[in-house]
Amino acid sequence: DKGGWSSFMAKEISEEPEAVANTIRGRIHEGQVEIPELDGLDELFAGINRVIIVACGTAAYAGQVGKYAIEQWARIPVDVELAHEFRYRDPVIGDDTLVVSISQSGETMDTLMAVKYAHERGAKTLSICNTQGATIPRESDAIVYTHAGPEVAVASTKAFVAQITALYLLGLHVGRVRGTLSAVEAEQHVRELESIPAKIRRIIDEEQGRIEQLAHWMADTRSVLFLGRHVGFPIAMEGALKLKELAYIHAEGFAAGELKHGPIALIEAGQPVFVIVPSPRESAELHKKVVSNIEEIRARGARVIAIAEEGDAAVLPHADEVLRIPLAGPLFEPLLAVIPLHIYAMALSMAKGLDVDQPRNLAKSVTVE
Ligand code: BG6
Repeated sequence: DKGGWSSFMAKEISEEPEAVANTIRGRIHEGQVEIPELDGLDELFAGINRVIIVACGTAAYAGQVGKYAIEQWARIPVDVELAHEFRYRDPVIGDDTLVVSISQSGETMDTLMAVKYAHERGAKTLSICNTQGATIPRESDAIVYTHAGPEVAVASTKAFVAQITALYLLGLHVGRVRGTLSAVEAEQHVRELESIPAKIRRIIDEEQGRIEQLAHWMADTRSVLFLGRHVGFPIAMEGALKLKELAYIHAEGFAAGELKHGPIALIEAGQPVFVIVPSPRESAELHKKVVSNIEEIRARGARVIAIAEEGDAAVLPHADEVLRIPLAGPLFEPLLAVIPLHIYAMALSMAKGLDVDQPRNLAKSVTVE
């Protein structure tokens, strides 16, 4: 039931704040992460020296965001692999490896086969899944459910922010178990995570109208580029994926630092480029670099739509449009920066008169390899 919304996707984007809040709920006790499902499983994390995240599509981008946080908090190397690539290259894994799978449906065959393969090779497996009792969690040693609620639109939105939230909870938990994160630090991150739902709500309330207007003007656009750096890089790729899926527009996400090594050749007059700008307070150096990337593409005629923190005045002279997100610590920005991109892809699809919930050629859950 769309509950009065024009599409399931519109409903599900509006539920992104709750997807984060419900995934956190019941897993914080006195400022510390306590995941009941992981009770008694400390040995699962104690004996490992690497993590491999396997997933497909949007879930793989959530994994890439999670990598930054888990490495930083738990000081353990994390690789992210597309599930269908993983088992065909004879990966180096064993009982020192934790394979974390991410799947909204829990039924994606590529991801399931990667988990089974990891299990056969003696690795430990943990499933991050949005569907209770699905096949992938049943095949795994441990489960952390996301509580985004049922997701009906084929392209994933609220499950994506819930997946990042679950990965962050996991990163904080493993950091505490391994002793790489103090209780005080963990509590700061917990508080920050708890502040995210209200911030997402603010973006929806304050920017949705402008983004829809922007999409309306851009209905004839044939190509859109997305640039991001650090945790903004997987968000750039997620923005591009959504646009391909929903609006059938050629879109690519790039690491901003890679621009000069190739993608800048694509820039010509009028090329729309979304740029996710790191916080000038939290990451002054990266902020400066990304602003100079904006200048470079602007000088070549790009039309720049910046996603920048409230109060970041330095981007104003360089961008054609600035979409604002509330202040957040650097690792938490992705949960905010992705919201305008989800709204934009949906709005552009609608401006083109397409079916946002059922894009052509796609299925919600792909149960063949
Ligand atoms: C694709 C869906 O087929 O599968 C994507 O169209 C999704 O939206 C991907 O991200 C992975 O699905 P799941 O259920 O494993 O998260």
